[in-house]
Amino acid sequence: MNDHTNVPNDLDSFWMPFTASRGFKQNPRMIAKADGIYYWAVDGHKVIDGTGGLWSCNAGHNNPRIVEAIQKQAASLDFAHNFNQGHPIAFTAASRLVELARDFDHIFFTNSGSEAVDTALKIALAYHSARGEGHRRILVGRQKAYHGINFGGLSVGGIGLNKGQFGTLYPSAVHMRHTLLPENAFSRGLPEHGAYLADELQQLAETHGGHNIAAVIVEPIVGAGGVFPPPQGYLQRLREICDQHGILLILDEVITGFGRMGEAFAHQSFGIKPDLVTIAKGMTNATVPMGGVFATQAIRDAFLQGPETMPDLFHGYTYSGHPLAAAAAIATLDVYRDEGIFENAANMMPVWEDMLHSLRDAPGVVDIRNAGILGAIQFGSEGAVGAKGRATYEKLWDLGLSVRPIGDSIAMSPPLTITENDVAEIGDILGRVLRGK
Ligand SMILES: Cc1ncc(COP(=O)(O)O)c(C=O)c1O
Repeated sequence: MNDHTNVPNDLDSFWMPFTASRGFKQNPRMIAKADGIYYWAVDGHKVIDGTGGLWSCNAGHNNPRIVEAIQKQAASLDFAHNFNQGHPIAFTAASRLVELARDFDHIFFTNSGSEAVDTALKIALAYHSARGEGHRRILVGRQKAYHGINFGGLSVGGIGLNKGQFGTLYPSAVHMRHTLLPENAFSRGLPEHGAYLADELQQLAETHGGHNIAAVIVEPIVGAGGVFPPPQGYLQRLREICDQHGILLILDEVITGFGRMGEAFAHQSFGIKPDLVTIAKGMTNATVPMGGVFATQAIRDAFLQGPETMPDLFHGYTYSGHPLAAAAAIATLDVYRDEGIFENAANMMPVWEDMLHSLRDAPGVVDIRNAGILGAIQFGSEGAVGAKGRATYEKLWDLGLSVRPIGDSIAMSPPLTITENDVAEIGDILGRVLRGK
């Protein structure tokens, strides 16, 4: 019997996502097993999952309550769609999520962060149309932003490499400048300088007419672009400018949702009220794919003016509110609550910050950034761009820590269950690799 814990003979059929596949095949790192904050590779090598399954497994791996909930659901209702019919567990999951989000009354279910972003952008456009403002067609994103890889998210995203192969995307997407400023290097938490960069939105409103802008979307903390927190006051300023012009503010909380910042959502930590929020990843602890868009009552109401026999939004996925995902989401929320996962994150934030910044004098380190249980160490480039990041990633893996290389930086987002000992162990491995000892 194949228990799928060996390196397969065929590494060719699977066209892997975002992967340099020829390099991968030379030395395939293949994960066979997970538990808590650890992964085991097929050869038995144990590593700390310093990426939390790519910013996702906030409660750690293989939590027994989540596993059991998925198993039970698969055995009772494996699948039913939600197009003009429903199943109870999707409604329960929605109520629980809305309760956690506090400022929102509705959630639209998707299957991923990318779908959540495209859904949010479409809701924004349709909202304005429903209110007789169909001229609002401009979507504002930001340099270095990552909003997934579907057409809308890619259009408002700001990572050129991700767009280069695809030509023109959404024709009316414009971008603000990013907020990664050299004068903020080695900031602890939110950097001091740069709130003025939010005025770029004001300039775009002047250039294009604020009344033509539908929405602005930003990650509260930039993740895949290299982990950088917003300058102090930046998000508040964006909110003000949006209000001046009737622009919807969408916060992409696919990474920052579900406790990464010590509260359920980053916008709660920052005291910001967005109009739409995208989520995924930690929503089900990444066990079953699921994403979603939170919407305020005001947004939802705009869609309830048409004939009752017509869908109020011509949008949806076969798997929107899939029973297995809904079961996983409910169990995940139970675990977050009962096991005090967000509280643990809040308690560990200063420990995490201290550990990261203790590496500031290591050779080649030019910046260290952190917020919540997120962090990045930036190196000066050595040779080809990305070579130093990649080499560091490989050395760390060998010593038992998995991180995410992003250009010449490494990013970390471990499960929010980490203890002081875990942070110390991560710090020890980082120190040994970075200091070459
Ligand atoms: C902020 C943000 N938005 C959207 C996405 C896309 O999510 P997915 O990979 O589930 O499509 C990601 C993925 O990392 C993300 O970080």
